[in-house]
Amino acid sequence: MDSIHVQGGVALQGKVRIQGSKNAALPVLAATLLTKETSCIYNCPRIADVHRMVSLLRSLGLKVRWEENGIRVNAWNVCRGEMPADAIKGMRSSLCLLGALIGRCGEVAMEYPGGCMIGKRPIDIHIYALQKMGVDFREEQGMLFARTEGLHGAEVTLPFASVGATENIILAAVMAEGDTIIRGAAKEPEIDALCHYLEKCGAVIDGIGTGTLTIQGGRPLYGTSYRIPEDRIVAGTYLFGAIATGGCVLLENAPYRQMEAVLKVAERMGAQCDLTEEGIYVQAAERAKAVKAIRTAPYPGFPTDLQSMALATLAGAEGECRIEETIFENRFQVVEPLKKMGADITGINSGCVLVRGVEKLRGAQMEAKELRGGAALILAALSAEGESTVTGCSYIYRGYENICKDLRELGARVAGV
Ligand code: UD1
Repeated sequence: MDSIHVQGGVALQGKVRIQGSKNAALPVLAATLLTKETSCIYNCPRIADVHRMVSLLRSLGLKVRWEENGIRVNAWNVCRGEMPADAIKGMRSSLCLLGALIGRCGEVAMEYPGGCMIGKRPIDIHIYALQKMGVDFREEQGMLFARTEGLHGAEVTLPFASVGATENIILAAVMAEGDTIIRGAAKEPEIDALCHYLEKCGAVIDGIGTGTLTIQGGRPLYGTSYRIPEDRIVAGTYLFGAIATGGCVLLENAPYRQMEAVLKVAERMGAQCDLTEEGIYVQAAERAKAVKAIRTAPYPGFPTDLQSMALATLAGAEGECRIEETIFENRFQVVEPLKKMGADITGINSGCVLVRGVEKLRGAQMEAKELRGGAALILAALSAEGESTVTGCSYIYRGYENICKDLRELGARVAGV
């Protein structure tokens, strides 16, 4: 099922349950190897990236079992075996195993991690921070070797609030001797989730949700249970789906407190968003109005992971919008396929485009090149006149548990083929 076929032109109607967060589940699963006891991680999404993380943990000797509502992990035994190279290469967040394994075993050998091709994605900040904590690195034939004779706390100021680097430092810091202070830490809700899981294990972390985190090292960690929060990016995807098609949708359990910047944009596009106990109730305008400008930024700014969905929505909106991408330099890969659908998008410079909404997009054959861009093409196809086929959908399944079923439940004519 590498392709998704869409018959466009149906306004999304109804309710959809929002899955657990991919970007929270992956570092929390990596963190389960820090304690020798059993942890139960509930509300894990059943997506390709989580399956990959499970296979990586198993390859390290952990006992990992899917249960109805989550994943049970026992890390009594962690061996330093080779992790499957394809799992590491295919997924950027395998990188959080670096901090976790350094913390637990004091050494790591891993392939350079992969992920979506949305930019250069270097790991210099991870390396700089872990070096300050006493880790030595060497690279040989595409492998990264890290080793420490004694992991110790440090004061680290990040040159950029990298999500992955903040997670790696936290994972190592809870196991280090002495305290670690991270200044300029990322403030994404997924960092909070990792900290809350570790706190439940017995870690002591101050400043959660702020740019300065203080982590006490060396506290004993115990097994615990933890529920992964809902995925703000999946909720945002369906929110833009409702806006692009002029629909009316209840995003059940959507984590709206984490979605302020996105909801502001949605309302400026003419959607009424009611925040209720059940989630977000979206009533979109028949045709979306363009906002003047969107600029991606680290949390609490507008998330780069929803930039392509906003772009796809604006392609059919009334008016024009300037979209600036400040996090990843290669995140406009949807522009060409959208143009195939009749979108009017011009590049201003490498990080900025101008979208002039057209009356109607038309169906086309398109190829997904990365996860979020792929989902954005599905949204464009939903709002278009006629049929579309999106190939390369294995990227989309990396992050969406059941995008076809979810959309069908909202009335869309969508099929995985
Ligand atoms: C995480 C998310 C991803 C999201 C991104 C930004 C996961 C699994 N992925 O990715 O969905 O889009 O945060 O919110 O949680 N950088 C460096 N050197 C480094 C590290 C990062 O230059 O050592 C750069 C990157 O190339 C990128 C920017 O910093 O341009 C953001 O990267 P980072 O915040 O680390 O994102 P990820 O953790 O990879």
